[in-house]
Amino acid sequence: MSTATDRRAGGPPPLDFPFSWDGTRVPAEVEELRATTPVRRVRTIAGDEAWLVSSYDLCQRVLRDDRFSLKDTSAPGVPRQYALTIPPEVVNNMGNITGAGLRRAVLRALNPKSPGLTDWMRTRAHRLVDQLVAEGPTADLRGAFCEPYSAGMHCKILGIPQSEAPAFLRSLDIAFMNAPCPVSGARINWDRDIARMAALLDDPATHGLMGELAGLRDDPDYAHLTDEMLATVGVTLFGAGVISTSGFLAMALVYLLTHPTARDLLQGRPDLIGPGVEELLRVNLSIGDALPRLALDDVRLGDVEVRKGELVLVLVEGANLDADHFPDPHRFDVHRDNTADHLSFGAGAHYCPATALGRAHAGIALEVLLGRLPELALAVPPTQLVWRTGFMKRFPERLPVTW
Ligand code: HEM
Repeated sequence: MSTATDRRAGGPPPLDFPFSWDGTRVPAEVEELRATTPVRRVRTIAGDEAWLVSSYDLCQRVLRDDRFSLKDTSAPGVPRQYALTIPPEVVNNMGNITGAGLRRAVLRALNPKSPGLTDWMRTRAHRLVDQLVAEGPTADLRGAFCEPYSAGMHCKILGIPQSEAPAFLRSLDIAFMNAPCPVSGARINWDRDIARMAALLDDPATHGLMGELAGLRDDPDYAHLTDEMLATVGVTLFGAGVISTSGFLAMALVYLLTHPTARDLLQGRPDLIGPGVEELLRVNLSIGDALPRLALDDVRLGDVEVRKGELVLVLVEGANLDADHFPDPHRFDVHRDNTADHLSFGAGAHYCPATALGRAHAGIALEVLLGRLPELALAVPPTQLVWRTGFMKRFPERLPVTW
């Protein structure tokens, strides 16, 4: 545990963070913090102290300022938001991909305009709805739609068999835990997944991104790459991508099923699903904790002098619901001219490389679900949804629906 913030003795005691795992309401603390102390000391799950940033302007500033580093959050001995569940060097995943000369191949693979990808998604979404309809209500929409749709899309992009999805999917329950101390299962799963993905590099049937990476092994320009490095690309893209896309989709559905006006609008006007997804990105509470950065220097942030070595946490829901940037922020308004300013994909150096894919994934799913199941509704009162705890994303364990 760090002593970096002992200097701050005398201020109010740190608040425990995260505030709430419930994805149907913005934690009560957020509005008040933004209005009074938009840079506030908190105690993290790991037991360390950090600065929680909750206004739009300051969140943006942190994400766009290279003196706040993502890579260094995994350095030994620094204050932590939660225990690492991946090898420390993998925190700088996209930096590693770029350093290995693989950025272009990865960005190409994540482009939803790659031939046939959106058609594949639409067909897959329809098949999953066919299964729901054949079995009849009720169904768990997260387990029976969001997860298989998202995991399938990632297998398609990576070019690995769809039959691999369940094994890689299983690891995510631990890999994205927000645990106070290291979890033994995380390492076991990581080693198994890397071995599994590395074996797929040798499979002649592998195509897509992993097939392309496998092909580089014959290229002397890429002699510096090991199978483990290539497998890490596949495992991390599957993990980051599936947890983000299926989690966001589940949360977008929770929002629509608990906000009839928004849902009726998108159901009646499928042409508005594009801007609707953007607004859902803004209002959704999918990020369960905050985006962590380590201060590499002393930096003034609002009223606070953040010291070198301190942990700073960017509260995305604080930024996305800041009335100073998004007037009437709790109103679902597909006609806002600045909706896309939201920070749900981050900002700055680590801005998500798959924003177009994330949008297409959700847009196609909503088009198919709302189109095919016009009577879609929660099968339980919203208060009965069970929220995952101790996890980097907020989502309901099950999303029971009827139609
Ligand atoms: C709706 C879907 C998605 C959401 C909401 C989302 C959200 C985010 C956010 C907030 C960040 C910034 C993290 C930070 O600054 O600390 C990020 C980065 C990242 N995302 Fe996404 N993401 C989505 C889809 C995907 C997909 C489909 C993939 C890959 C298959 C992906 C891969 C990544 C990677 C590799 C980074 C790290 C970028 C870097 O460090 O430069 N994301 N994403």
